[in-house]
Amino acid sequence: MKGYQIKTLNEFIIEKQTEFAFARGELSGLLQHIGIAAKIINKKVNKAGLVDILGEAGATNIQGEDQKKLDVFSHDQMVQSLKSSCDCCGIASEENEGAITFDDEMSKDASYVICTDPLDGSSNIDVNVSVGTIFSIYRRVSPKGTEPMLEDFLQPGIKQVAAGYIIYGSSTMLVYTTGKGVNGFTLDPSIGEFCLSHPRMQTPKDGLIYSINEGNYVKFPEGVKKYIKYCQVIDKDTGRPYSSRYIGSLVADFHRNLLKGGIFIYPQTASAPKGKLRLLYECNPVGFIAEQAGGKATDGFRRILEIKPESLHQRTPFYTGSINMVNKVEEFLQSEIM
Ligand code: AHG
Ligand code: MN
Ligand code: MN
Repeated sequence: MKGYQIKTLNEFIIEKQTEFAFARGELSGLLQHIGIAAKIINKKVNKAGLVDILGEAGATNIQGEDQKKLDVFSHDQMVQSLKSSCDCCGIASEENEGAITFDDEMSKDASYVICTDPLDGSSNIDVNVSVGTIFSIYRRVSPKGTEPMLEDFLQPGIKQVAAGYIIYGSSTMLVYTTGKGVNGFTLDPSIGEFCLSHPRMQTPKDGLIYSINEGNYVKFPEGVKKYIKYCQVIDKDTGRPYSSRYIGSLVADFHRNLLKGGIFIYPQTASAPKGKLRLLYECNPVGFIAEQAGGKATDGFRRILEIKPESLHQRTPFYTGSINMVNKVEEFLQSEIM
């Protein structure tokens, strides 16, 4: 009898390990533990509304944002799973002011650090709209056997060894890259495994969707205002007007545009001159995926992955998605400063 033909995330990770010379399985172990954390967070997200996990935790994070109970749960779960992997010596999380370092002997000997947004789009959780988890993995620069240092986390995005996200949507998916293309796995709840469903993901070079919080229109730079008007003009050749789609969870907005083609923009505004999204936890990992899928990620002027971070919670304007669309908005932005 013919069995159920699947490739699980763990099988895929082990298979790919052989592509890295001298790989000792540490990265594989890490990715597998992220998969476990994802399943546990997924279970909690699915039960939200039934168990007491909705709403505010009653605290604010370092960025002055109200923490939701699920933000705290997801953060704690990521820390717990990564610590028990023993393949990670420290974590920088959107929900914690400083980097968290693991001081047990096994973890101190590990080669990798992780940056994470444990729950992205948390304002959407109470209304049953998609949220996500984002992660980014770097090889430490400090010597093994010691506690990791700030420099381990403040590396430019081009140094990422792997990055990905989990989207808790109508189905749950894990999408990741190790710099050799992007692959997507869908959680099959009947067997509790992420199964390869989207091999070698590539994003269209052009798209018909623009995603931006247009409520902030009056605060946008002139170039962005002009680009939005460009998106709305009728032009049969380019398929305009484009559709406007904005969920308010970066992971969900980016994932839709990755599959269909489109652009996601969170620009600098008059009240937030550096933008809102965080370089380490959101823009670098998403930017790495975008590039690996044939798309682009910039701050309007510079490649996101080449920005040297100065602090853990640094923000940046963010333009990402289909390459021709990002190039177009950059033309508008750059013509404003000439
Ligand atoms: P987080 O929930 O991790 O703080 O992230 C929220 C982010 C991002 O997911 C989304 O793209 C953006 O904030 C939405 O911001 P606005 O509500 O200002 O549009
Ligand atoms: Mn976020
Ligand atoms: Mn978050």
